[in-house]
Amino acid sequence: MKVGFVGWRGMVGSVLRERMAAENDHRFFESVFFSTSDAGGEAPRVAGGAPTLRDAHDLAALSACDAIVSCQGGEYTQEIHPRLRAAGWRGYWIDAASSLRMRDDAVIILDPVNRSGIEAGIRGGVRDFIGGNCTVSLMLLALDGLVKADLVEWVSSMTYQAASGAGAQNMRELLVQMGHLHDAARDGLADPQASILEIDRNVTQALRGGDLPRTHFGVPLAGSLIPWIDKDLGNGMSREEWKGGAEANKILGRPAMGREGALLVDGLCVRVGAMRCHSQALTIKLKRDVAIEEIEGLMAGANRWVRVVPNRREDSMVRLSPAAVSGTLEVPIGRLRKLAMGGEYLSAFTVGDQLLWGAAEPLRRMVRILVGNLE
Ligand code: HSE
Repeated sequence: MKVGFVGWRGMVGSVLRERMAAENDHRFFESVFFSTSDAGGEAPRVAGGAPTLRDAHDLAALSACDAIVSCQGGEYTQEIHPRLRAAGWRGYWIDAASSLRMRDDAVIILDPVNRSGIEAGIRGGVRDFIGGNCTVSLMLLALDGLVKADLVEWVSSMTYQAASGAGAQNMRELLVQMGHLHDAARDGLADPQASILEIDRNVTQALRGGDLPRTHFGVPLAGSLIPWIDKDLGNGMSREEWKGGAEANKILGRPAMGREGALLVDGLCVRVGAMRCHSQALTIKLKRDVAIEEIEGLMAGANRWVRVVPNRREDSMVRLSPAAVSGTLEVPIGRLRKLAMGGEYLSAFTVGDQLLWGAAEPLRRMVRILVGNLE
């Protein structure tokens, strides 16, 4: 099997390459690296890899691949994918862009949750396998046990999404904003007698001032938050919020939101000043009142990555944060308790690295499924 890689130099592509190297994936197939800017240049050295970069707009070279894994982004997918299909290419297209996700002939890949759906898709001739929205994927991994036990009537997810979901430049801008705010506070911090209210006045002035870099976010994120992610759908909902219900039901193979049998998922999506971990506060309406111990057992046993964190102060502070989870594949879920509304109302808080399970990991695992070699 020959696998082509496009967009492997960007942020998600780099995480993908790190993971593929760590899992020694390249030994299972022939690898061809494509480039939009450096065709003919030297390709990354991997087992079974072609030495030279190919042109990412060369349809013939792309068509020679049995599968193409793209982290190049939605615009590239929209430009190249239809042309490859129109030219009769029947290979597997694997990407993480939202452009093809909701199409009837595409499967959203999150194999710990929907492996059987992926395999049925392969058998049924599906050729487009697309990674899901990061928040949705991370929520479904965390709630896997409860959903499999058919205990969930609805979920309200209030998100705390990291800068990385908006892109590499946004991560840089967050850090520059942090530095800018620190500059505004520096003198006051150096003086133990300085009034904290005076320090805060300076910081607030810097937050509101025209000098704060905001090209990418448009507004301050450091020292603040942004309660809107992605496009405005015009009905009070952001596109990120719409994806929650739409993609979750597609991944789970259920009817669409609003139809009988759908899992109701809705909530507000908020950008916070974390680097690459998305967190979510969940309110879960259970179909029946189940003991917390049983809930914890179902969650913990659902897949290899979910970790139930005991609902205690110390464990929650130390283990259930972007700082603890960043760069790992673990998906901790904690703050599990029954809410005052009744025994069927469960709270939860979950954190996951949005560049790993939220973007790169499902793609590399899809290739391993295709070559018949995923543990
Ligand atoms: N749309 C997500 C975000 C990232 O902005 O955080 C990609 O799934």
